[in-house]
Amino acid sequence: MQPVAYKRCFPGKSGAHLIAFDDGREYVVKFLKPGFERTLANEWIAYCLARFLQLPVPPAKLVEIPPSFCRSVPALATVPPTQKQFASLYIDGCVDGTAADVQYVVNHRSLPGIILLDYWLCNRDRTRKNILLQEQGPGTYYLWMIDQAEIFGSYGWMLPHLETLPVGILKSAVHQLMARFIEEERQFYEQLDVIQTIPSLLLEEILAFVPNDWGLTSVDKRGIISTLLYRRQKSLPHLVHKFIKNVYRPLHTQLDGET
Ligand SMILES: Nc1ncnc2c1ncn2[C@@H]1O[C@H](COP(=O)(O)OP(=O)(O)O)[C@@H](O)[C@H]1O
Ligand SMILES: [Mg+2]
Repeated sequence: MQPVAYKRCFPGKSGAHLIAFDDGREYVVKFLKPGFERTLANEWIAYCLARFLQLPVPPAKLVEIPPSFCRSVPALATVPPTQKQFASLYIDGCVDGTAADVQYVVNHRSLPGIILLDYWLCNRDRTRKNILLQEQGPGTYYLWMIDQAEIFGSYGWMLPHLETLPVGILKSAVHQLMARFIEEERQFYEQLDVIQTIPSLLLEEILAFVPNDWGLTSVDKRGIISTLLYRRQKSLPHLVHKFIKNVYRPLHTQLDGET
């Protein structure tokens, strides 16, 4: 797949760019960015896991933007030259979570999975800007998750940080919003089971596909795998319990009281 036209840059930390490709589609492309070195690997790892869990994440690809294309576009002239970049299919016609009055989420059955994945991976950036809402009818939306650049606590984590990732409630207005539309507590535990039974071989495969010039060493990769295995067994069950007790139940007690 080759880029054919540069469209624009998005505001935001990653400096994502909208680029049209010769498959006739537009993709949001992230390049390696100094100071934000983990962004690409984080996006890739979280994307693969989200896909495996059948969560609503825009289809993504590793693409190769030729250096000649970058040189021809002033906004790309200084991006570090990696062989591959992370491209996420541009979902047109959405608003973010700051702009919508959400009454109903059509894909509400995916919401526990998004929350659990965020807790498993320690994504501290599930803000209202990091969901996309696609209107299906008045107040009714399909919810997409975007921007997994800050899993493992940040876009610039170092190996020792992986061992001390927080195991408390993540402050997220979006998790609260999503929790309103989750019908039963049981769904959280079903997702926990699915996450805990992901074959470790799949985790290894996902890491094996991280391009070599994205700055992950083999030691980093092993650290990620042991963190994922440890957190899903030892931390996630407590986190699910805490989330239900401190976020889900209070919200639902309140909502039930209103009806
Ligand atoms: N797949 C997508 N479809 C539509 N818009 C997107 C998509 N991915 C990102 N965007 C837009 O680009 C902005 C920046 O992307 P994001 O992944 O949130 O990076 P960051 O916030 O780290 O800069 C988002 O706030 C959103 O407006
Ligand atoms: Mg963002």
